[in-house]
Amino acid sequence: MLDKALAYARAHRAEYLEDFFKHLSFPSVSAQPAHTADIRATAEWLQEHLQQIGLSARIMETGGHPVVYAEWLMAGADQPTILIYGHYDVQPPEPFELWQSEPFKAEIRDGYIYARGSNDNKGQHFAHIKAIQSYLAAIGSLPVNIKLLIEGEEEIGGPSLSAFVEEHQLLLDCDAIMVSDGALLTLTQPSLTYGLRGLTKMEVTVKSLAKDVHSGSYGGNVQNPAVALAQIIAKLKDEQGRVAIPGYYDDVRVMSAEERAALAQIPYGEREVLAETGASQLFGDPDYAVNERKGARPTLEINGMWSGYTGPGSKTIIPATAHCKITCRLVPHMSPQKIHAMVSDYIKQVTPPGCTVEVEQYSEGAPGVLVDRDSPYVAAASRAAEATYGNPPIFEIEGGSIPVVGDFQRVLKKPVILLGFGLNDDNVHSPNERYAVECWDKAIEAGLRFLAECAA
Ligand code: BES
Ligand code: MN
Repeated sequence: MLDKALAYARAHRAEYLEDFFKHLSFPSVSAQPAHTADIRATAEWLQEHLQQIGLSARIMETGGHPVVYAEWLMAGADQPTILIYGHYDVQPPEPFELWQSEPFKAEIRDGYIYARGSNDNKGQHFAHIKAIQSYLAAIGSLPVNIKLLIEGEEEIGGPSLSAFVEEHQLLLDCDAIMVSDGALLTLTQPSLTYGLRGLTKMEVTVKSLAKDVHSGSYGGNVQNPAVALAQIIAKLKDEQGRVAIPGYYDDVRVMSAEERAALAQIPYGEREVLAETGASQLFGDPDYAVNERKGARPTLEINGMWSGYTGPGSKTIIPATAHCKITCRLVPHMSPQKIHAMVSDYIKQVTPPGCTVEVEQYSEGAPGVLVDRDSPYVAAASRAAEATYGNPPIFEIEGGSIPVVGDFQRVLKKPVILLGFGLNDDNVHSPNERYAVECWDKAIEAGLRFLAECAA
């Protein structure tokens, strides 16, 4: 049956790719209010598509962007139910001028599909959908029961998703949750992720004046908020990249010597980081290695800062305000609320005289998570990955966040499997996001094998 489904997927490769390109054509940017209608159009198209391939699918409202839910539960009570999770929203494509092709008009160049969302996450959840389609079309049934939850708020921190999962606990009840939203180490070396970082996001506003004023007439007599903000930011971290806020590391999960040794074995390190980012050298806490700093240590990063005049030429003012956006990546067992309060209090303490500061928290934040490596469903994913990529997966820990994973663990209390299908150099969240055609083909195969391996 698996072979029949695999053969079907191969025979319908062109048609599947066409459907994928259609999915990629929707500018489903969750962060930008101008795209609210596009978000809904994406959800509606997806719902229809899932219906067409033989699932019962519906759109569910959340108070924010809609969720697409689908199911096929005819494998019988003796077969497990797998919940497949993904997100159809994408990060903003800006800056447009750095894209070599239109972000929402997928194009294949040199074996890569270029489009916003091609890797993150349309190319990954849609591969599972094509795997399901292949089974249904080739055999008329699936080896296991399936529920699908594809949502539209992941890239903005999933503000409505916690409540959605709580409210629909019974609907989402399952035996395991498959999340494909990450990367392989290479096309021949899959990985299973056993930890994700959480985060808390905030925006800082420093004010010193009632309005922008002439920098000649007033310079020397009043505080400049841009300078004040720079001084605040400079106190957040030390020269080696450690967060300088007292107590910041107090609750951080301590790794065992075995875990550290295992992380050191992962074939990912300095060379990859420099090549993927264009950085000239590594920078980070000297007490930890690359893979530890990537996923098992917390960070504090400035995501953007602005103040005063940034247009062409010059403008001689002292600006009235200065702003920055901060995200703290968290690991188990740090509390997003506690860290938010700690960072916010510290910023207030170090704010220089002559200005006021406000720290606004965006969304609730999410805790760092570790997933159970020993569940039989992780073993099923491992066999599926080995058969597809030629090697058994390596366990690794990721630096990114998928906020709903913590909600799944807390509310559904079932094992989560984190099996990524992309590559680390796919320019996720950057211009020219891409997904290797081979990643797409293999993802469908891995998805098919995973369903077969889960069957009792
Ligand atoms: N796919 C990523 C999460 C991820 C990144 C997993 C890297 C594995 C490796 C996800 O779409 C994402 O970008 N999440 C956001 C969440 C945030 C906006 C709350 C992130 O990590 O920045
Ligand atoms: Mn993302």
